[in-house]
Order: sequence, then structure tokens, then C-alpha cells
Amino acid sequence: MTSLPTRSLEDQVRSIVAEHRDKRGALLPILHAVMEDLGYVDPAVIPILADELNLSRADVHGVVTFYHDFRQTLPGRRTVRICRAEACQAVGAAKLADQAQARLGVTFGETTEDGAVTLEQVFCLGNCAIGPSVQVDDRLYGRVSPQQLDRLLDVNA
Ligand code: FES
Repeated sequence: MTSLPTRSLEDQVRSIVAEHRDKRGALLPILHAVMEDLGYVDPAVIPILADELNLSRADVHGVVTFYHDFRQTLPGRRTVRICRAEACQAVGAAKLADQAQARLGVTFGETTEDGAVTLEQVFCLGNCAIGPSVQVDDRLYGRVSPQQLDRLLDVNA
């Protein structure tokens, strides 16, 4: 069951739509703007967008679920991204991936129960020459060792 949108969320989303409505293929830029403003695409946003853009809820839901960029749950206070692309895989990214999942008790795309950390995998952070690469929020780290990853995952640091 989808909950009804709260008034403030609805106002926020309708004003985002008003800003981007005239763009070509407006749904994608609108969803990106929703991500930027809210940090995720709440399920309550889907009926609002469907109504505003004269689309079915299924159409909007289909686009949201097709693109991995559109999170559907509130992200943690910190987001840790581990690069799993080839250059980083060749220098130990798989080990870091296992380590992070074991340490946090989540798999990729999930957030720890206390809401502290969201763990994501990405496929290239543009830092290939000095992999393995890890990004914590907006900060990028290269040549990350297991010990350094432990420090990066320490939510109390
Ligand atoms: S392959 Fe990891 S940063 Fe490019």
C-alpha cells in the first residue's frame, strides 16, 4: 500500500515539476531534481509525478526502478561507495567489498539499521590509476587498504 503524500512533500514535488516541466523528456530531469532535493524518490512521489505529467503510476514506477541512480529509500547519514570496475577489481576491490559488507552487516544498496551508513557499489569513480577507489560522501580515496577501509567505515570517526 502506498501512503498518501504529506502536504509539504507534495508542494515540494509539484514545484520541482513546475521548474522542469518544459524540458524534453521531463520525467528524467524531474527525478534527478527530486533526488537532489530529497536524497531519494519516496514512493509517495510517484502518484504526484503521474498526475502532473499525465502518465500512469506504472510508467513512473517503471522508470524509477529501471535506473539504479534513483534510490527509493532514505540514504544513511554517510554514503560509502566502493568501485567494482575492472581496474579497481584488479587491485583488491573485491576484498574491500566483502570486508565492507561483513563489517556493516548490509549488502550493496542497503543502509545499516541505525541509519548511519549506506553502502553502494559503483563502476568507476574516475580514479582508476590509483585504485582501489572508495568514495565517502563527496570525498574520494585511492589505493585504499583494508586498514584504511576499516577507518573509513568507522562511523564514530
Ligand atoms: S575502475 Fe575504479 S575508479 Fe575507475
